[in-house]
Amino acid sequence: MSHDSEPQPVTAHPAGPLTGALKPPGDKSISHRAMIFGLLSVGETRVEGLLEGDDVLRTAAAVKALGAQVTREGEGRWRIVGVGIGGMQDPDGVLDFGNAGTGSRLMMGVVGGQPVTATFDGDASLRKRPMRRILDPILKMGAEVVSEAEGGRVPLTLRGPREAIPIRYELPVASAQIKSAVLLAGLNAPGTTTVIEKAASRDHTERMLRLFGADVSVTPSGEGGHGRTVTLTGQPTLRGTDVIVPADPSSAAFPLVAALIVPGSEVTLRGVMMNPLRTGLITTLIEMGADIERLDEREEGGETVADLRVRASRLHGVEVPAERAPSMIDEYPILAVAAAFAEGTTRMNGLHELRVKESDRLAAVAAGLAANGVGYDIEGDDLIVTGKGEPPVGGGTVATHLDHRIAMAFLVMGLATRKPVTVDDGAMIATSFPSFRPTMLALGARIEDGAAA
Ligand code: S3P
Repeated sequence: MSHDSEPQPVTAHPAGPLTGALKPPGDKSISHRAMIFGLLSVGETRVEGLLEGDDVLRTAAAVKALGAQVTREGEGRWRIVGVGIGGMQDPDGVLDFGNAGTGSRLMMGVVGGQPVTATFDGDASLRKRPMRRILDPILKMGAEVVSEAEGGRVPLTLRGPREAIPIRYELPVASAQIKSAVLLAGLNAPGTTTVIEKAASRDHTERMLRLFGADVSVTPSGEGGHGRTVTLTGQPTLRGTDVIVPADPSSAAFPLVAALIVPGSEVTLRGVMMNPLRTGLITTLIEMGADIERLDEREEGGETVADLRVRASRLHGVEVPAERAPSMIDEYPILAVAAAFAEGTTRMNGLHELRVKESDRLAAVAAGLAANGVGYDIEGDDLIVTGKGEPPVGGGTVATHLDHRIAMAFLVMGLATRKPVTVDDGAMIATSFPSFRPTMLALGARIEDGAAA
């Protein structure tokens, strides 16, 4: 979403119980990766359940510009015919990733390891986000930065080497995006690329590398075995394959918390991915007293999925340890909303990475809470939210700073506060959950265009 248009305010109104069942959209992380692996493999990849949000569509366009054939065959059904490692072409124009941090950073890993030159750009939010964290390792692997905006940001032009240099890289921050970029560049390296992470982050790249035929080993490492050492043997032949995309736990989080805070609600979320590196929010909410049942656990597309039956619950405050952050990094805005309804204090530790998401989420959440009468404190990188065990007053307008998750989190809040909550712009919701509004309306929510009257 380049977002050249006027902001579109949206207001959520308190309403009756939410009831019904829904399947949240396809997982964003897996959808980006399915497109990218389709490009890097030989032959045909068929994807089912792809998230057709703006972020993933940007990645699809980039994959096409780099030489793959990309065809939409039906709702969520896509076919990619790849060019194989080393077979990419220089794109004609700029690769415009819009709001998509994951798409742009993973693709920098791809371009940084292959003999191709490409220019990356994005919207005002992406232009503020740090890319040094990706450039640092891929420059060691032989990539060159031809030009860049100040501070190593987009727009930037990257030229990859004929063959990448295999490296051993310890991640400076827990980030699946950095890990993935190094592994993707390592695909064109003659030898072994190793990534060491102090805390395990989402492992979708590792899983997909294996699915497409690469040799990858993952071993626990570091303090308490919380970290991982990932080793990839370079220059495999990746073969196109079928990918089934499970429902995104990060999108499921919004109707899930809505069902917890709107009195009398009962909602079932179908087929939600339960990868343990993505379920930190569910663990935390259950600790807070949430009534969430995991039903019919099953395997789908190489991941465990489950139906989640969620009933409105009385929540209480908890302390969320910093080690849990990688498994719920995108869920803190909606957790802060849940915490605003809980009885007592919820302390979320170690949130420094929230400052470099689609917006400075720590600041954006704090401002949203303040605008709606919720007590909070920030101590260093920790966010402390004080709930009273009753609905906050609401009535505020929240600045979303081009951030889809800030918009959805505060619209959920407005379904259960005493007064409606307005977000200044709902447009970015289309990046990750285009059907958010119709989905919520079907459950009985009241969400309307415009500011509160
Ligand atoms: C993602 C990794 C996370 C997350 C993002 C998706 C991924 O970012 O916030 O929404 O698909 O690899 P970081 O790796 O930068 O924490």
